[in-house]
Amino acid sequence: MIKDILDKKRLGNSLTKKELEFIFMGYLKGIVESCQMSSLLMAICIHGLSRREVFDLTDIFIKSGEVLDFSDLSGIKVDKHSTGGIGDKTTLVVAPVVASLGIPVIKMSGRGLGYTGGTIDKLESIKGFRTDLSNQEIHDAVSKIGIVITGQTADLVPLDRAIYALRDITGTTSSIPLIAISIMSKKIAGGADKILLDVKYGKGALISTIDDAKSLGDLMVEIGEKYGREVRYVMTDMNTPLGSCVGNSIELVEAVDVLRGVSKGALYDLCVELASHMVSMAKKISVSSAEKLVIEVLHNDEAYKKFVQLVKNQGGDINSATVSLDKFEVFSKKSGVIKGIDALEIGKLSLCLGAGRLTQDDIIDHSVGIFIEKNVGERVDIGDLLMTLYINRKNKFKVKDTIFDIQ
Ligand code: URA
Repeated sequence: MIKDILDKKRLGNSLTKKELEFIFMGYLKGIVESCQMSSLLMAICIHGLSRREVFDLTDIFIKSGEVLDFSDLSGIKVDKHSTGGIGDKTTLVVAPVVASLGIPVIKMSGRGLGYTGGTIDKLESIKGFRTDLSNQEIHDAVSKIGIVITGQTADLVPLDRAIYALRDITGTTSSIPLIAISIMSKKIAGGADKILLDVKYGKGALISTIDDAKSLGDLMVEIGEKYGREVRYVMTDMNTPLGSCVGNSIELVEAVDVLRGVSKGALYDLCVELASHMVSMAKKISVSSAEKLVIEVLHNDEAYKKFVQLVKNQGGDINSATVSLDKFEVFSKKSGVIKGIDALEIGKLSLCLGAGRLTQDDIIDHSVGIFIEKNVGERVDIGDLLMTLYINRKNKFKVKDTIFDIQ
């Protein structure tokens, strides 16, 4: 039976819901072996899935665990999700901005894996900050202060956890239907009313081209419609890291600077765009009206105060995140204008420094990271400082000359 299903997909045919359920749930229960599941995932990567298969499989994913219901909490609950990028700390800014405007935010985030970081790791740079809240604690936090950022509960879409781990080691992460199912099953099971997606494309993203980013965004909107959820998406370039910092503590510090209105640039602009869409959906106002509200709370300290409240409520000490005192400076060997900064190479370097993990069980060092001193478009001379690496002397790393494209 399993072999028949694999043959069917290998030849590019569609599977019935029964067949999909048999093989995917069989894998979760340990009946289907990982080599068989891997073979199916690769066939899906090559042949894709029909719309009907995507909807069926999303349903199977959602029903593999508990479905959260926050309908007893008043207000329209909006969630956001990014397909993953280097230096992406937007949740740390956007969630408190939106909550400071009276919109309840229940954000379940993940840990970093491979070259991309995770919001939960960044928050765990704060001593004491709890990211393992129970459903009751999530409810209590939202009722009390209108915001919670926590890790996914073990029971939320367990099938995705199992399949994602396998995709990660079998070269099957970039399949558009598999990404759409993975993200949307978690968002729908997480109980949000409205969902904003940040679809990344480029060197540092799972998806390379803007056309593929659009196909992924459109597919996720369609899945959302099936479940009666309003879904919007923005597409963002991930050829260059987002902002100037990559790591954990160091990204937290950068996010706080944006929250206090101190830091401007690409990170600030994207945070304003994302938050404006979320506020627009929740308050049913235009994006430009929402943008005015967002900019106001970023400049009158209301968003920052909400972040402080969030940290305190989840047991953290806001002043405790530390960046390593050991530094390694990288200087330019060329003169010219910076045409690009390779996001993927920055992600790999950050991983070698110890800021990321190769397997789910690796321990990360929150204090290491990268500060990009010069950005795209700037002129540099030989000997100018390009990056400062905050390092842990135990970790070996090598800095490639090709990270900065200077012409
Ligand atoms: N983020 C997810 O949650 N799943 C994917 O497959 C890709 C990005």
